[in-house]
Amino acid sequence: MIFYFSGTGNSLHVAEVLQSDEQIVDMAEALRRRRCGFHIRAGEAVGLVCPVYYSGVPKLVLEFIRHLHLKDDYTYTYLVLTHGGGPGAAGAMVEHELKKKGYHLDAIYDVKMPANYVMVGQPAAQEEEDQRILDAEPVIRDIREAVLERRFDLPDYSPVSRALTWSMYPLCDRYMPTKKFYTDDSCIGCGVCAKRCPVDAITMVDGRPVWQKNHCIRCMSCLRCNAIQYGNIIKDKRRYRYHEVKE
Ligand SMILES: Cc1cc2nc3c(=O)[nH]c(=O)nc-3n(C[C@H](O)[C@H](O)[C@H](O)COP(=O)(O)O)c2cc1C
Repeated sequence: MIFYFSGTGNSLHVAEVLQSDEQIVDMAEALRRRRCGFHIRAGEAVGLVCPVYYSGVPKLVLEFIRHLHLKDDYTYTYLVLTHGGGPGAAGAMVEHELKKKGYHLDAIYDVKMPANYVMVGQPAAQEEEDQRILDAEPVIRDIREAVLERRFDLPDYSPVSRALTWSMYPLCDRYMPTKKFYTDDSCIGCGVCAKRCPVDAITMVDGRPVWQKNHCIRCMSCLRCNAIQYGNIIKDKRRYRYHEVKE
């Protein structure tokens, strides 16, 4: 079974390439339905695939693990992180959370994909982004092989990278103002952004979306719609989504 979370499609793509005949489960959907108990077939591997946020993982992923209940006889658990070039010790954060539930990780892999965090920095040029996706394909296939062979592979995170993850993450995670989100005149009030939001952070008020700070995890999913702005920061920037993801 593969559990994934993806805001802009990178991690979903990785989960789909890793999939053989097992089920793929969207962590956000499982949390929304409050169905986080799963039967695992004897010998089946359990995979978690998600993006890196602030050298850690999205808090939705941590929440999913807190609710996760695996039944039966799985033998191998692995994590695949997608990131824009700086995974930090995000794997250690997941390992720590799983340990609290009595689960373990046998392997942690990571794949460098295009960065989607358009609010910070300039997006890469389109050609650079395309090249990164091409470069990622053999890496993902190698991970698939490693998982099929049930290889053990746990990185030895340095104390510095662990310290950075544990100190930076809570600060970044806390500073997530949503009041800068708004829609420009091209918004037709269709409500797709609200339906698409994995954490129900958007409510429609008088035909316009309104963001709620307590819920938003900045997954960038809503920014697929060009009517959505964030202050002046992203006005002229290209927004990222993996090319197979619907607009
Ligand atoms: C809020 C946020 C924080 C991020 N922090 C990091 C980071 O610390 N290091 C990094 O390499 N990439 C970071 N990224 C980039 C994503 O990890 C990367 O683009 C990922 O592949 C997106 O996956 P998705 O398309 O499945 O959502 C961040 C992205 C977001 C939205």
